[in-house]
Amino acid sequence: MSNPPLLAGRHIVLGLSGGVACYKAAELTRELVRAGATVQVVMTEAAGHFITRATMQAVSGRPVFDSQWDPAPPAGMAHIDLSREADAILVAPASADFIAQLAQGRAGELLALLCLARPIERCPLLLAPAMNREMWAHPATQRNLAQVRADGATVLGPGTGSQACGETGDGRMLEAAELRDALAAFFQPKHLAGRTVLVTAGPTFEPIDPVRGITNHSSGKMGFAVARAAAEAGARVTLVAGPVHLPTPAGVVRIDVQTAQQMFDAVLPRAISHDIFVATAAVADWRPAGTQAQKIKKQGAGSAAPQLALVENPDILAAVAALPLAQRPWCVGFAAESENLAAHARAKLVRKGVPLVVGNLGPATFGRDDNSLLLVDATGDHPLPPADKLTLARQLVAEIATRMATGTETAK
Ligand code: CTP
Repeated sequence: MSNPPLLAGRHIVLGLSGGVACYKAAELTRELVRAGATVQVVMTEAAGHFITRATMQAVSGRPVFDSQWDPAPPAGMAHIDLSREADAILVAPASADFIAQLAQGRAGELLALLCLARPIERCPLLLAPAMNREMWAHPATQRNLAQVRADGATVLGPGTGSQACGETGDGRMLEAAELRDALAAFFQPKHLAGRTVLVTAGPTFEPIDPVRGITNHSSGKMGFAVARAAAEAGARVTLVAGPVHLPTPAGVVRIDVQTAQQMFDAVLPRAISHDIFVATAAVADWRPAGTQAQKIKKQGAGSAAPQLALVENPDILAAVAALPLAQRPWCVGFAAESENLAAHARAKLVRKGVPLVVGNLGPATFGRDDNSLLLVDATGDHPLPPADKLTLARQLVAEIATRMATGTETAK
């Protein structure tokens, strides 16, 4: 199983207004199509100076609309038909001038016209601004943005960095993959709106000396998927990550740690300000009793191997679950087992004192993109069938939201 078709069955009107970032619109179209969407491109006259209709037609596989006077649509009303068919209108790039037109409710060109004529409850409007940093910072632009937001538009980005004009700052259009993910997130149900979620992920690394250490094969993928799914569901998410090479999910605050003790120190003070704690990390149970300041040298072939004394690491999940009820987030534990999943997961539910344990059979799942889970709680065992980790994480988030809404363990 590979990546999920994030936008399967969605029909997107992709609007291009004038700006250098039009060069990213072709790649964006490809990303949306790869993610399962159908894409109808609408361009302003200015956009046509930056990228051709022919390119956009080729990558979207559909004729491009660029005029309200085009006689092709039945009854000649592209501005009505296009938005009635769409699940969303995404304008990328959205220029300063185009945002100003929207703020004023102007309709001089097809794209502005169809944004104005869209059924506002049914067809959301998303804008990916792209402009020079001074244009972005200008009070007129910020005033217009506040207005279009108040009128119901969602603004994605912009990013910051080097700009086509040679300057550096805010105003870069988000990259194609970022916009694809933002659009997919937009469509997710907001099960956790207004909630705060703390997630641990990945392995820990317990140093023996400056070059060696004890760790495990956890890739962090499941925990990062949980953080992403929680953010998509509307939560503010803090992710405490062991040493992994994964990109931070959009909108998630990440704290990198190495050891179990550092993870404990990062989690405990933050736990009380979060509503939910999901412990996906594969925390090392033990660490070397003392770390050697210098690399341990072999004293020649056949010499005695060093004796490694171990001490127990703090149990992060158990410590959070033992907080007084009024301070305790709703806790979810993970159980990676090699056999007897249901029994071991249930034993952990009791031992750690948490309302939900999510079991999975390892080490087969370490590093993979798919998995299957067993949710174990007071009501029984509930399997989530095999799927990619993001799909499972979204299901888990929905399950947590349902349990919090109906459960008893909800002092916060
Ligand atoms: N956990 C934790 N801190 C630890 C050990 C585990 O927070 N020091 C959390 C994990 O993140 C996971 C759950 O506890 O959510 C279960 O972890 P696991 O290692 O499977 O459980 P253990 O209690 O260590 O049991 P065992 O290793 O014997 O299976």
